[in-house]
Amino acid sequence: MSTHAPTQTDPATGEELHDVRLHVNGIVHQVRLPARRLLSDALRHDLGLTGTHVGCEHGVCGACTVLLDGQPVRACLMFAVSAAGQELTTVEGLAQPDGRLGHVQQAFKECHGLQCGFCTPGFLTTITAGLRDNPDPTEDEARDMIGGNLCRCTGYQNIVKAVCRAAELGRLEPDQEDQS
Ligand code: FES
Ligand code: FES
Repeated sequence: MSTHAPTQTDPATGEELHDVRLHVNGIVHQVRLPARRLLSDALRHDLGLTGTHVGCEHGVCGACTVLLDGQPVRACLMFAVSAAGQELTTVEGLAQPDGRLGHVQQAFKECHGLQCGFCTPGFLTTITAGLRDNPDPTEDEARDMIGGNLCRCTGYQNIVKAVCRAAELGRLEPDQEDQS
């Protein structure tokens, strides 16, 4: 478990630092952080998991969405210390156990669900969680599923197609769905 009591002071800033254990994509990382470090910054800068993108830093765009114990959360709205001991999944953790693309990733590839790709990690994590709750969405339900994520490039049509295609892949290969 993490130790939330401050263990050290950063000599440069005078800030108290905390030892935190972050469980990310099945790996435990021990990091020493100030309490104010955002989860998005900890993932990108402390752990080097730059697949989590930061757009607005205000909880609006969804680019930073990761899964916390399977539920989508805005990594820019959480402090890293708050995620200690919980299971985090970033876009880097969405591949299948054998290394092949996960269903949502494969569907984005097939349906051309991305252009610049900046928003894509947030869509992939959001849809992964959404399909777990609703494995056979209608097109309207697919639109609802992605309603909290912003994309400036695609017009969303191909993303909606990708949601439906990912659902289809999940039905074809249900035992390969091992994304948490
Ligand atoms: S960067 Fe977190 S919601 Fe936009
Ligand atoms: S693909 Fe460019 S912002 Fe969505």
